Amino acid sequence: MAILVTGGAGYIGTHTCVELLNEGYDIVVVDNFSNSNPQSLRRVSEITGKSFPIYETDLLDKEGLTEIFAESKIEAVIHFAGLKSVGESVSIPIHYYQNNITGTIILCEVMQQFGVNNLVFSSSATVYGITDKMPILENTALRAINPYGRTKHMIEEILRDVTFADPSWSIALLRYFNPIGAHESGRIGEDPNGIPNNLMPYISQVAVGKRKQLQIFGNDYPTRDGTGIRDYIHVTDLAIGHLRALEKVQTSTGIDAFNLGTGKGYSVLEMVAAFEKVTGELIPYRFADRRPGDSSICYADVNKAKKELHWQATRGIEKMCEDTWRWQGENPNGYKKNRNQKTPVQ
Ligand code: NAD
Ligand code: WQD
Repeated sequence: MAILVTGGAGYIGTHTCVELLNEGYDIVVVDNFSNSNPQSLRRVSEITGKSFPIYETDLLDKEGLTEIFAESKIEAVIHFAGLKSVGESVSIPIHYYQNNITGTIILCEVMQQFGVNNLVFSSSATVYGITDKMPILENTALRAINPYGRTKHMIEEILRDVTFADPSWSIALLRYFNPIGAHESGRIGEDPNGIPNNLMPYISQVAVGKRKQLQIFGNDYPTRDGTGIRDYIHVTDLAIGHLRALEKVQTSTGIDAFNLGTGKGYSVLEMVAAFEKVTGELIPYRFADRRPGDSSICYADVNKAKKELHWQATRGIEKMCEDTWRWQGENPNGYKKNRNQKTPVQ
């Protein structure tokens, strides 16, 4: 029996595949490579010494997905596949709703057809929208403020209906805070297309000389230094959280949401300082206007995951910066160059 990992070639997917393989799971990956490079999965094989089936298939291709389920014995699904850019979702909302929501519905249809009803879903802290009360608990009202966030909220609601109609389903909705960092081997990491939207990839591209200076969006927030505060979590901690959620869905029924963060908030200036300290590189920056849609502060209450998933993050911001830097320094062009791979993809 295997775990189907949708979107397994992406940033969080690859790190989770490594942890799954290291724990002895068999995996099957499906990805359309719309936001990833097959090279990432070769690196997963290289790190773990294991090969696994990879299907270049779109979740919207129901026939293709059905064939995958027919060919492999799937016991549970970890569903990462989705589009994730907030700004892009504002420009092309129909595409986001189609890809993320229809993709999930088709996945559920095929799962139902094959009697597979254990699912771990990648949700996001973005479902909470902008809220004042910190830390954020899972029962906080959901008020996503952009189409991307609304796809996550709507999918959560759809999955609740699915479980209500058939209580044999077991689903974990994982609301990630701000995943950063990379595998400590330096072989896999975040590989954004074009100009990074997110803080850590931007900082590391400045450090490696690809970008001149960081723009810090706002220095007049009501925070300790005026810059925005977020709950950054090491991607390996996040990946391990999926294994604990998988154990939970395989031993219970029902649906529940869990925050995956560290419970600690760091400001943009604190992240810049941590990165400079760890790497010895200076990060030039200038203050710019606030970015529309940004909240001043956002960090998780992580007690539910600790209690019910028996999971908590253990890696601090220095480790997050160190691993980001190793990945960025050794792969300045992400997966695009460095095609000297030895392990073949099965
Ligand atoms: P990513 O873009 O690196 O990975 C997503 C993968 O899904 C990519 O490999 C992409 O090619 C694939 N994909 C997209 N649509 C597909 C489709 N229709 N069929 C098949 N494959 C498809 O993103 P990530 O950072 O690894 O995020 C994984 C999941 O976690 C996403 O659902 C994202 O919304 C969610 N999430 C990410 C973050 C973050 O900051 N990275 C935070 C919260 C939630
Ligand atoms: C962090 C802080 C910025 C870039 C996003 C998505 C969210 C989730 C995680 C998927 C903020 C500041 C950033 C820069 C800056 N993704 N910043 N200069 O916005 O908390 O969350 O990723 O679900 O949905 O919205 O993360 O890394 O973009 O920003 O000053 O060039 O860094 O203003 O305070 P964010 P981020």
